[in-house]
Amino acid sequence: MYIVGVDLGGTEIKTGLVSKDKGIIKKVALPTEAHLGQEKVVENIVETIKMVSEGVENKIEAIGIGSPGSIDRDHGIVRYSPNLPFNNFELAHHISEKVKVPTFVENDANAFTLGEWYFGSAQGMKHFVALTLGTGIGGGVVSHGILITGRDGIGAELGHVIVDPDGPLCGCGSRGCIEAIASARNTARWAKEFSVKIPENKVVELAGGIDKIESKHVFEALKSGDYVAKLVVEKVTDALARAIANYVHIFNPELIVIGGGMSKAGNALIKPIEEKISLYIMPSFRGTFKILPSALVEDAGILGASAAAMYHTR
Ligand code: BGC
Ligand code: NA
Ligand code: ZN
Repeated sequence: MYIVGVDLGGTEIKTGLVSKDKGIIKKVALPTEAHLGQEKVVENIVETIKMVSEGVENKIEAIGIGSPGSIDRDHGIVRYSPNLPFNNFELAHHISEKVKVPTFVENDANAFTLGEWYFGSAQGMKHFVALTLGTGIGGGVVSHGILITGRDGIGAELGHVIVDPDGPLCGCGSRGCIEAIASARNTARWAKEFSVKIPENKVVELAGGIDKIESKHVFEALKSGDYVAKLVVEKVTDALARAIANYVHIFNPELIVIGGGMSKAGNALIKPIEEKISLYIMPSFRGTFKILPSALVEDAGILGASAAAMYHTR
């Protein structure tokens, strides 16, 4: 028997056929096309599910979807999502109606957290915090061996911790959320902004034009000591260090695991955060935690979504 894991992102839908003991058997990706509205997004999700389950349609036990936003997991409803066209949308119902398989929806970052807990860097841990750096910034918290979700199940929105009250506007309507400064999308945005003033730089060169800049170009350019790349990484990692210091003070975790597209930068991202965080934590917290990139890398979203289905059918 299999589980289908759907990693629903602001820009891409990544879906995999997952076997509990063999991991990912097959995976596909399609653009989310969020700008075309909720029906189109559902159509694209269903298409990816059909693609991965071809030939084993009647061996699918459950579908797990990791979706950005506030999720009513008991009813599979996306209540609100800053980067998707969903408002009180019955996502699980729309999918299970078309695919005829029980479908579970979990916040994407909570799903990532469960994935790292079951299969990744946080196996066996009782206290850890997870952060995903993608289009948005997502969070998940395991404290005392429990996934913390709060009264309505929508807690652990670590991306909307405010680190600069005068900072840029966030998709949620506030200013200076860590997401508005340090998501992969906003890392690229800083590089675009700085490149208007300093057009001769390695980031633009690698991207092949200002409009094509992505966060990966920033970290690539950093390797050759590019000035613009340095400015961007300074800004982003300083904000992340402040945000993580807040999580450390609240949860006293043993690990902060960082996933999402930008975590592929590895030490280029993590080292500067580690250096700066000492400035922001109480001395008693020094040396109490590690910061590691996701062990599941590319597959973290899909494995996380299937871990969420396992968690809800356990
Ligand atoms: C949303 C979260 C989500 C994160 C990552 C944030 O903007 O508020 O719910 O987990 O993006 O997609
Ligand atoms: Na979360
Ligand atoms: Zn916000």
